Amino acid sequence: MSQTTTVAEPIAARDAAADTMMALVYGGAGKRAWQSMPRPLIREPGDAVIRITTSTICGTDLHIMKGDVPTVTPGRILGHEGIGIIEAVGAQVSTFAVGDKVLISCISACGRCDACRKAMYSHCRSGGWILGNTIDGTQAEYVRTPHAETSLYHLSADADEDALVMLSDILPTGFECGVLNGKVEPGDTVAIVGAGPIGLAALLTAQFYSPAAILMVDVDANRLEVARQLGATTLINSADGTAVDQILAITNGGADVVIEAVGVPATFDICQSILAPGGRLANIGVHGKPVELHLEKLWDRNVSITTRLVDTAAIPMLLKLVQSGKLKPGQLVTHRFPLSDVMKAYDTFGNAAKERALKVVLSNRE
Ligand SMILES: NC(=O)c1ccc[n+]([C@@H]2O[C@H](COP(=O)([O-])OP(=O)(O)OC[C@H]3O[C@@H](n4cnc5c(N)ncnc54)[C@H](O)[C@@H]3O)[C@@H](O)[C@H]2O)c1
Ligand SMILES: [Zn+2]
Ligand SMILES: [Zn+2]
Repeated sequence: MSQTTTVAEPIAARDAAADTMMALVYGGAGKRAWQSMPRPLIREPGDAVIRITTSTICGTDLHIMKGDVPTVTPGRILGHEGIGIIEAVGAQVSTFAVGDKVLISCISACGRCDACRKAMYSHCRSGGWILGNTIDGTQAEYVRTPHAETSLYHLSADADEDALVMLSDILPTGFECGVLNGKVEPGDTVAIVGAGPIGLAALLTAQFYSPAAILMVDVDANRLEVARQLGATTLINSADGTAVDQILAITNGGADVVIEAVGVPATFDICQSILAPGGRLANIGVHGKPVELHLEKLWDRNVSITTRLVDTAAIPMLLKLVQSGKLKPGQLVTHRFPLSDVMKAYDTFGNAAKERALKVVLSNRE
């Protein structure tokens, strides 16, 4: 697949091509292009079509670009985070109307199946994580969102889109898979391994529960410094292999809650080695390789280990906290690009350590 030009077309040509749009299209491992694609239309009565005003790139999109996510096939428009204006709705959609500004959850949920009735939207029988995975996603001028009534959220016309787009995925992920599953309580010692956007989202939301200490572990000194500014009390650079000994010494025997926010065997190993008796290990990372579970050391430690795909059930609560100013996810935005520069944005986000990048915002606002 070749990279298409982004030179602006003459107005007349654009009018003639009103049924097309520009989008970031996956072309197989290592290949992507900003190219013309058919504009999405309503297919099911529960659908909405949204004109994207803000989107962003996720660490999971980088996994896809490496070819690690086989459900994503060449020709797919990527992206599962976004905000936009409703352009059209299907016959069954009554709570959203054309012209409404909405936040798009990375999880599409029918609200009716057995998984949805348990609030486990990530495992919806006809949804879950499908946007930018098995159906076309949000790194485009327009997107079709299934199950619109139970997957979109109203925003005010003057909403802070750069901050709120963090609620499509990373804030609910850090909170639900890390903080809620880890059962953070007042006075706890919390260790978060991985200071990427997800680990930092767990850091921001763990503070709802007043832990006594939050240790942040990473190999990137810049990200650790950001963690300090966002509330981490101790920074551990794990590059020299002494992280476990340091943490056991600082915590006098381990952390009450350990959050894994990387997704490789080395970091899972750190996590299982720093659990206090009674500790909770909440895994967030997407793992592509098996890990070694040291039950011979853990069997008598009264610990629990949890895994979770984000459900985004916490979005309404997080929206209230952002709107009240108590939660400021805009702090995670380091770079801004016009949506049409998404190719450059991927290069920047893909070189996060060198570019000092956390979240890159793609904006398509007039
Ligand atoms: N469970 C879910 O629903 C869910 C949802 C979204 C993302 N994720 C996953 O969460 C993980 C984190 O996402 P992200 O966007 O923050 O990723 P990221 O790649 O931006 O951040 C990972 C961080 O881990 C650090 N790191 C790498 N190797 C390390 C090591 N050996 N020791 C210490 N630190 C190390 C990196 O320096 C980086 O700062 C990814 O695996 C992602 O796929 C899971
Ligand atoms: Zn994501
Ligand atoms: Zn469902």
